[in-house]
Amino acid sequence: MVFRPEVAAAAIDAARSDDRPLVYLSPRGQRFDQSMAKDWAGGSGVVLFCGRFEGLDERVIEARDMLEVSLGDFVLAGGEAAAQAMIESCVRLLPGVLGEAGSASEESFEDGLLEYPHYTRPRVWEDREIPDVLLSGDHGAIARWRREKALELTKARRPDLLGGHGAKEDER
Ligand SMILES: C[S@@+](CC[C@H](N)C(=O)[O-])C[C@H]1O[C@@H](n2cnc3c(N)ncnc32)[C@H](O)[C@@H]1O
Repeated sequence: MVFRPEVAAAAIDAARSDDRPLVYLSPRGQRFDQSMAKDWAGGSGVVLFCGRFEGLDERVIEARDMLEVSLGDFVLAGGEAAAQAMIESCVRLLPGVLGEAGSASEESFEDGLLEYPHYTRPRVWEDREIPDVLLSGDHGAIARWRREKALELTKARRPDLLGGHGAKEDER
């Protein structure tokens, strides 16, 4: 089953506004990422079209110049869960949503790296200790440790990020 073009287009035309990106959620689309979340959060909103079944008649995608965006390389039954994930990642970037304004700027992908590890009390848990440097009170040393750990994790898990637009190893 495929969404009929005249039915889908009527819904899209009722919802769309000229200055908002019109997005069709689709596994074929450009991969959603933090930089897209930032763009959308900084704009006046987006119109998201969630498919079901086989998807949307191709002529609507062309005629309405829809941007196809994917949540990842897997196939969902419908676009709703993907839309919810995208909306949440945008909403938490809006001013006043997070308790601490700086929280979002220190997270994974913000500077092209995955985030460093976090610890909290107790100091020792199941014989595992919090790294000494984090208890030292030396803010410079802590910042350096976090940077090193972020780099290590990114190299091990997502080396592709180091070659992209974000942080490059030789700049560190
Ligand atoms: C069963 S899927 C259709 C898959 C499509 N026939 C294909 O092979 O590319 C139904 C709908 O779920 C949504 N969907 C599925 N996977 C998605 C993903 N990875 N990202 C965003 N939306 C997805 C899309 O809106 C799609 O139209």
